[in-house]
Parts: sequence; C-alpha cells; structure tokens
Amino acid sequence: MRILLLFTVLALPLGLLAGPQRVPDHPKQPEEAPKPVQSSQPTPPPQQQGSPQPSQKPSSAPPAGQGPPSGQPSYVLPPKPRTCQQNILPISPYETRQRWDRFVVALLYDKNVTTAFSYIVQDYVNHAVGVEQGFEPAWNFVSMIWTTQSANIIADKTWFNRSSDIAWQKYTVGKFNIVDRFRWDRGCIVEHVSWTPASMYWSNQ
Ligand SMILES: *[C@@H]1O[C@H](CO)[C@@H](O)[C@H](O)[C@H]1NC(C)=O
Ligand SMILES: *[C@@H]1O[C@H](CO)[C@@H](O)[C@H](O)[C@H]1NC(C)=O
Repeated sequence: MRILLLFTVLALPLGLLAGPQRVPDHPKQPEEAPKPVQSSQPTPPPQQQGSPQPSQKPSSAPPAGQGPPSGQPSYVLPPKPRTCQQNILPISPYETRQRWDRFVVALLYDKNVTTAFSYIVQDYVNHAVGVEQGFEPAWNFVSMIWTTQSANIIADKTWFNRSSDIAWQKYTVGKFNIVDRFRWDRGCIVEHVSWTPASMYWSNQ
C-alpha cells in the first residue's frame, strides 16, 4: 500500500487516483453513470464510466477520438459551498471536535464534499510541496476525486488533538492509503499541515 497525502496529490497527474488501471477491482456504482459534461476540470480521468458491462468487447467500444473531446470530463461536480467563516472569538475544543466529526461524517461517510468543504476557509493554506494555495484548487481536485471515486472511498481512522486543534483522518481511495492532517482555527479548517506518520497516535484515540 502506498501512503499518499490527499492534498499532496494535487501535484501529481490528476488521473492517478481516478484512472481505471489504478482501481480496477471496484466497479462503478450505478449512480456514477456518466453525466453531461459540466465542469472546467482541465484533465479528465481517462476511464469509460459509461461502460461497466463486462461483456462489452473492446472492438465495440467507440474508436479513440470519438469519446468526449480531450480536456472535457464526463462527470458533474457537486455544488460548491460557501467557504467557512471563522468565528471572531476562539471556540472551545469541544465544539471544534464536534465540527471535525461533522466534517469527517460528511467527507468519508456521506461522501458529501459540498458539506465537508463548508468547513474550509477561502485562504486555506496547504503545506504540501507544489500545490496551489487556497480553497479553489483543493475543491477542484477533491470534488473531482469524490465524484468519480465515491464508491471506493472507505474511512479508516480519525483523531483530534484538543490541545492544538489539529486533526487527522486516515482512509483509503481504492488501493491508496491516504492521511490528511488539518489545523482548525475558530471553527474552520485553515491549514493542511505537512504530512507526518500518524499511526503512533491512533492507538490511544
Ligand atoms: C450534501 O449535503 C447538503 C447539505 O446538507 C445537502 O443539501 C445535499 O443534498 C447533499 N448532497 C448530496 C449529494 O447528498
Ligand atoms: C497535541 O498538541 C499539543 C500542542 O501542540 C502537543 O504538545 C502534543 O504533543 C500533541 N499531542 C499529540 C499526541 O500529538
């Protein structure tokens, strides 16, 4: 298993997680059937989501070049939420923990990126090397992954440090192990902290 930091993957080809060769053993759910093109994502996943029938022979597939034009994805991104507005005053670790739990439920269980990203501020800081800063790049990438890979996303562990308002989540997307570590401030996720192995902490959560 490879360990990836989800928001680090922004620096990698967008097809890495979405490509059919990478997650071949998880058939698409019916609700992930192809939808009208309605996105500005520059690099679509190369998969044929509309051809789940195993009986379909390659010879019956449309010749290359007759699918969606290169540069246009075949999925519809969910609605983008309003970004998180930080409280003027600090909020308690208890309430931050409650918000973290709601974020995790939305992202990893409901697979609802619209709700999850409502906890992220506009000027979100990402310390991963090579990624763009701010809400928009994170939204564009994560919403694409969640739209195309929803059935393959499985929650594993989470952890919250009340002293520092830093939280971890560990989950899988297909065969990829992913760890995200976030810092909360006044009710919102403001920062994606640099990756550190977290397994040592989870035994005591
Ligand atoms: C995501 O959550 C929002 C807010 O609760 C809700 O309006 C929306 O329908 C949900 N989206 C999906 C796909 O369930
Ligand atoms: C929780 O955060 C505090 C304050 O930053 C830090 O001293 C402590 O080591 C952290 N605990 C763990 C288990 O990481």
